[in-house]
Amino acid sequence: MTENNFEIKILYGTQSGTAKKYSEIFAEKAKEVADIVSVVNLADYDPEDLGTEKALCVFFVSTYTEGSAPETAKFFFEWLSEATVDFRVDKDFLRDLKYAVFGLADSAYGDNFNKAGKTLNLCLKKMQGKRVFPMGVGDASDEQEETFNKWTNKIIQHLKSKMAENVEYESTDEETVEKEVMDLEELGSLASKLKVKGDSSEVKEMVTPIVRESLQKQGYKIIGSHSGVKICRWTKSMLRGRGGCYKHTFYGIESHRCMETTPSLACANKCVFCWRHHTNPVGTEWKWKMDNAEFVLNGAIENHQKMIKQMKGVPGVGQERMDEAFEIKHCALSLVGEPIMYPEINQFVTLLHQKRISSFLVTNAQFPELITSLVPVTQLYVSVDAATKESLKKIDRPLFKDFWERFLASLSELSKKGQRTVYRLTLVKDFNVNELDNYIELVKRGQPDFIEIKGVTFCGYTGSNPLTMSNVPYHKEVVEFCKLFVSHLPDYELSCEHEHSCSILIAHKKFKIDNEWYTWIDYEKFHEFANSESSFTSLDYMTKTPSWALYGSNERGFDPNETRFYRKKASKDEPIDHGC
Ligand SMILES: Cc1cc2nc3c(=O)[nH]c(=O)nc-3n(C[C@H](O)[C@H](O)[C@H](O)COP(=O)(O)O)c2cc1C
Ligand code: SF4
Repeated sequence: MTENNFEIKILYGTQSGTAKKYSEIFAEKAKEVADIVSVVNLADYDPEDLGTEKALCVFFVSTYTEGSAPETAKFFFEWLSEATVDFRVDKDFLRDLKYAVFGLADSAYGDNFNKAGKTLNLCLKKMQGKRVFPMGVGDASDEQEETFNKWTNKIIQHLKSKMAENVEYESTDEETVEKEVMDLEELGSLASKLKVKGDSSEVKEMVTPIVRESLQKQGYKIIGSHSGVKICRWTKSMLRGRGGCYKHTFYGIESHRCMETTPSLACANKCVFCWRHHTNPVGTEWKWKMDNAEFVLNGAIENHQKMIKQMKGVPGVGQERMDEAFEIKHCALSLVGEPIMYPEINQFVTLLHQKRISSFLVTNAQFPELITSLVPVTQLYVSVDAATKESLKKIDRPLFKDFWERFLASLSELSKKGQRTVYRLTLVKDFNVNELDNYIELVKRGQPDFIEIKGVTFCGYTGSNPLTMSNVPYHKEVVEFCKLFVSHLPDYELSCEHEHSCSILIAHKKFKIDNEWYTWIDYEKFHEFANSESSFTSLDYMTKTPSWALYGSNERGFDPNETRFYRKKASKDEPIDHGC
């Protein structure tokens, strides 16, 4: 044993066990030079950990059909290949990684010889990983085991001699040539070949143990492997008789009977104002193990009710509200992630309606075809985070290359849905507030029934989040924006305001009848329609808005039946929780 705390991690990807066997043999040899030696199946390894890996990583990876990686290493390879071409992943993400690769292959496969090994080697190098030894390649048609033994002896010798000097291996000319041959397109096509299909029992869970732990710390209850539920601050507030969220004011939801949940914690964006930043699962399609809709909904209800129960005894929580809260009336599918990515979203929504729970679903406008196929929801939202291609890229940091086309197509699809539709605009100073003309164009395209406008909430500084408090607009700036906005939209007017959370509602004038606003929802009527075969539109389940909810009312959108609670110190530096 040495005394320098040197660690070697052996990571293998195998189909028929050879790479695993080699890893175990290598581990025994590695003990000659390292203090800590571990052997890890790539199936159990989170590729994001590579960026902070302290150990020297030695990979043993075989190549399979058409040059693909072994089944068990697919997720790892796919992640790595995508990260290499993802403009949001730092180009030198692996600058601290030291690694070596041994590919198990067969020359009988011609052009696909050792393709997985080569891909791995190049991806790691491309992200500035430090290769400490040339790649070894074992040919199953030509004394593979002997090649492995020789390579093992050489690298161990090399490490022994270089350890004291801490010298890193430099690429040979041969490898530089190899690097040029394996261009990005090749990596891209490999990634797409690796897309997981078929039997869900073989695919990965969306929420890794690390993400699960982090979410739980933030108060999320995780249901199965891809869904979450969390009690909203406005649910608690209304339970205590201190007022509901802006959706109570705008649409008459009872916040204490609202469950905020998501059946997909993953998303196709990495929005700058999102809490998940770099830890969230992302993907352009569903590629994870899936729990069925009934399981997700039952789990969400059960966990939500448990959280409601915990509110018992909290000052202000009365028995009547408590009893009501147990009977969930609304479901806000807007917690985090992209709910329409969930393959059983239609079943999920249908189950909600069967239980007479209304559905408020928010999508990030990256899946137009899923908007088309979505069953009627009580209110369908699109987050319109920016109005130009450039700022959308800056704010949402989308995964799709054709994100702008997808965004526009989503808005067009929205205009064809018969039920209530909403644009949700989050104003971010210096990012999107100066794009009024472009927003007007987007409204013309999607013709939403409503436009909700609020200022961005500051979620704290992180390395990956460029927002600061100076990007948070004041309420009066939000109001000014809204006034200017409607002055260019002849079909719309400012209808409601929830000053408490700095939110404004702009509504289509079709909801103004005989000079009275009908922005509230007749939920029972909605359920009658949703649970029947008949077609219906947003005008079929509207109901009158109370005077206190209207823009310009004395109450400024605060329900007079509630007791307003003023926080002692409210300053611009304190984030406002607008609600979902
Ligand atoms: C169905 C099948 C497909 C294969 N395809 C390739 C290939 O495309 N390229 C290659 O270099 N080797 C290919 N091989 C050879 C394997 O990589 C080689 O047998 C290796 O030693 C297997 O290691 P493992 O048992 O750890 O998975 C293939 C082997 C099988 C059985
Ligand atoms: S803010 Fe959202 S989750 Fe909270 S009560 Fe209102 S609608 Fe429900």
